[in-house]
Amino acid sequence: MADKRALAERISSEEIEKQYEYMRRVRDITAKKAAERGAPLYACVKTYGCQQNEADSERLAGMAVEMGYSLTDDDKCADLILINTCAVREHAELKALSITGQFKHLKEKNKELVIGICGCMVSQEHRCDDIKHRYPYVDFLFGTSMLYRLPEILCKRLSGGRRGFYSDYGAGNIAEGLPVSRKAPYKAWVSVMYGCNNFCTYCIVPYVRGRERSRLKEDILKEVRELVQNGCHEITLLGQNVNSYGLDIEEYKEKYDFASLLCDINDIEGDFLIRFMTSHPKDASKRLIDTLATLKKAAPHFHLPLQSGSDRVLKRMNRRYTSADYLKLLAYMREKMPDICVTSDIITGFPGETEEDFEETLRVIKEANYDMIYSFIYSKRKGTPAAEYDDQIPADVTSARFRRLLDTQNEIAKEKNSLLVGKTFRVLCDGVSKSDENMYTGRTPGAKLVHFPSDTDVTGEFVSVKITSAETFALFGEKV
Ligand code: SAH
Ligand code: SF4
Ligand code: F3S
Repeated sequence: MADKRALAERISSEEIEKQYEYMRRVRDITAKKAAERGAPLYACVKTYGCQQNEADSERLAGMAVEMGYSLTDDDKCADLILINTCAVREHAELKALSITGQFKHLKEKNKELVIGICGCMVSQEHRCDDIKHRYPYVDFLFGTSMLYRLPEILCKRLSGGRRGFYSDYGAGNIAEGLPVSRKAPYKAWVSVMYGCNNFCTYCIVPYVRGRERSRLKEDILKEVRELVQNGCHEITLLGQNVNSYGLDIEEYKEKYDFASLLCDINDIEGDFLIRFMTSHPKDASKRLIDTLATLKKAAPHFHLPLQSGSDRVLKRMNRRYTSADYLKLLAYMREKMPDICVTSDIITGFPGETEEDFEETLRVIKEANYDMIYSFIYSKRKGTPAAEYDDQIPADVTSARFRRLLDTQNEIAKEKNSLLVGKTFRVLCDGVSKSDENMYTGRTPGAKLVHFPSDTDVTGEFVSVKITSAETFALFGEKV
């Protein structure tokens, strides 16, 4: 196994240049094949998991394009399939494994098809071993910190090399300067830091993403500047815990933090919104809130995961705050920014959660008056401390609680959304609605989904929308 400390570093520009050299070599191979068949080669990137994975997939796609592939969403016509996996809950892993299983027949039809699996799931040893043996038609695996080496890995395989297993089991690094192919020109993910040091006892992320490491502010600001110059209207800053930004960089100590970065991004000229996620409540400082309240471009939305309302459970989760600390922070935020939309993550069925603990969660979410929550049923993750707790909750108890949690929150969300009827928001349009082709869809600055009709295609533009009706999960409006 690779030395984790040695890998937790900034990848040198020489190493990145080496990968560009591999990209050129693969491009020669794909160009030859394309000429033989009289059609381009296609690459399909399948993504599971969070925004960080979405952002990683845009780099995988960027490298594929650089290597001569055209991108497709249709796996059936692909010559290269990359499956970027998530490990946060069992369901996410099973989905990725199931789709990998389905690709067996594609490989039988097309012997030249290359299949690679990457991301968080294959940053775990037991999953790597499993895939190696049970899915022999998978050409290679590479963990999260090996992403920048895709060109090398692919080149070796295309040149007749053996199946490759490049896992690192949670090492981490920072690779700048890779090509990127973004899904949309008008909104973009920008990672500001990678990894996590928090080790919440239920969570696999620190094990598969390595320790916290921040990108240099110059690299981030350059990326944002270029995006905005090219017409990007929404920048979402990503990190497992953005409030830890800069803590690992010696020169930034006590001088430059996430609030400073937000200010610098806000100063970049252009018409764009700044979003960010995720913030850990233990680190969301008053300084950050005070700063946010003054920034014109910062979206009035704060995602602040509570996880549980019970102090006993929070302690066992290693979250390092109490429900009272949390509510105090929220009250301060609302005092400074009365219109801010607040969303949260809640887990039900954490080991040892009693009926009283769960009722505490219901009490706190009512008091927090969230705009929306993402609720999850606890999923046991191999290798995490909570997986060893002997008081796991039976599935039927958890699902009954999960239902009650949703019912409680749905009522709150409906009530909150109904207060927005009659108000006008500047909505960034995301294109035609998936559920109704006569409607366009977008998000308010507070990140609420809005559907509205439009005679012209306003995808990627800011549109003023007056809200005419509200449901639990969406608002409806008209252009004004
Ligand atoms: N770094 C972010 C989010 C990480 S994962 C944060 O700390 O908020 C996103 C969400 O998945 C978490 O907030 C948590 O609610 C949920 N989650 C993580 N591990 C889980 C598990 N083992 N079972 C169920 N939900 C989990
Ligand atoms: Fe997981 Fe906790 Fe880190 Fe979020 S803060 S990624 S929940 S360990
Ligand atoms: Fe999943 Fe990895 Fe994100 S485990 S939630 S894709 S960091």
